[in-house]
Amino acid sequence: MRLKDKVAIITGAANGLGFEAARIFAREGAKVALVDYDEKLGKQRAAELREEGGDATFFQVNVADRDNVDGMVSEVIRCYEKVDILINNAGITRDAMLTKLSMEDFQAVINVNLTGVFNCTQAVVPHMIAQGKGKIISTSSVSGVYGNVGQTNYAAAKAAVVGMTKTWAKELGRKGINVNAVAPGFIETNMVATVPEKVIDHVKSTIPLQRLGKPSDIGYAYLYLASDESDYVNGTVMHVDGGIMM
Ligand code: CAA
Ligand code: NAI
Repeated sequence: MRLKDKVAIITGAANGLGFEAARIFAREGAKVALVDYDEKLGKQRAAELREEGGDATFFQVNVADRDNVDGMVSEVIRCYEKVDILINNAGITRDAMLTKLSMEDFQAVINVNLTGVFNCTQAVVPHMIAQGKGKIISTSSVSGVYGNVGQTNYAAAKAAVVGMTKTWAKELGRKGINVNAVAPGFIETNMVATVPEKVIDHVKSTIPLQRLGKPSDIGYAYLYLASDESDYVNGTVMHVDGGIMM
């Protein structure tokens, strides 16, 4: 087992990439804190993992709310006594062309996709420093690295994730903490299901592998970066996108 007895917090774990990662991590022996805004689904998902023999607990949290996040981290420590891994995966889209993008939708995406990553990381890091080891993985996007039509807010936040990842890798490396990001391409989840069909057809035609990604394609990237196998990997942005932007 690649994560035996490690304690992992995964945000956005009720759906898509986060849930798939929670399942993979539980199968690899991790004790998983599933963190999500969606309480009903999150509880179901944690129960599903426990039925499969995993150790999983759900925590209802809005990652954009700092008090909420601090409370969750205290609860995880109380429940599992430590945090070894943080996966900053929660995210939302509010797509619109620049000329039509409202301030409200701009700010909503920044609050979750940027401030949420900052909140969770700052809350968890003191515990990792105290234990002299930790793994932080944040989810960027092909949109944050190369830009994407209709995603001013989202691309800004996902580019910020890259900047924060590299900064934290430099600050925290000497404390025994590895900080990396994963930049997925277009992966089959609810998030992509909202994209107009003509856009998806166009996107597919630009991917050398000629298909969208599966949630497990990202789950296994998270797994590698969370495991001891990646102990010398720090400050990297792992592109898992079928080669979309080569
Ligand atoms: N790439 C290339 N062209 C795009 C595009 C994209 N991502 N999004 C829109 N376009 C094109 C449209 O095909 C259209 O072209 P034509 O004028 O030739 O028909 C033009 O831009 C205008 O688009 P709409 O007519 O749809 O304009 P709208 O104002 O009604 O809607 C929009 C704009 C909300 C941005 C809508 O086009 C849309 O949802 N586009 C998809 C945006 C997208 O790719 N989001 C990714 C979501 S998944 C995700 O975020 C995960 C991740 O990290 C990758
Ligand atoms: P999804 O929409 O399927 O799941 C996102 C989860 O995050 C949901 O369960 C939702 O309830 C939760 N969430 C949203 N806001 C929250 C908040 N404020 N606090 C706590 N939880 C919250 O999305 P998906 O596709 O699984 O995306 C996961 C991550 O991967 C996101 O950060 C997304 O931006 C990123 N990503 C996704 C890609 C894709 O193609 N699906 C591509 C590149 C990046």
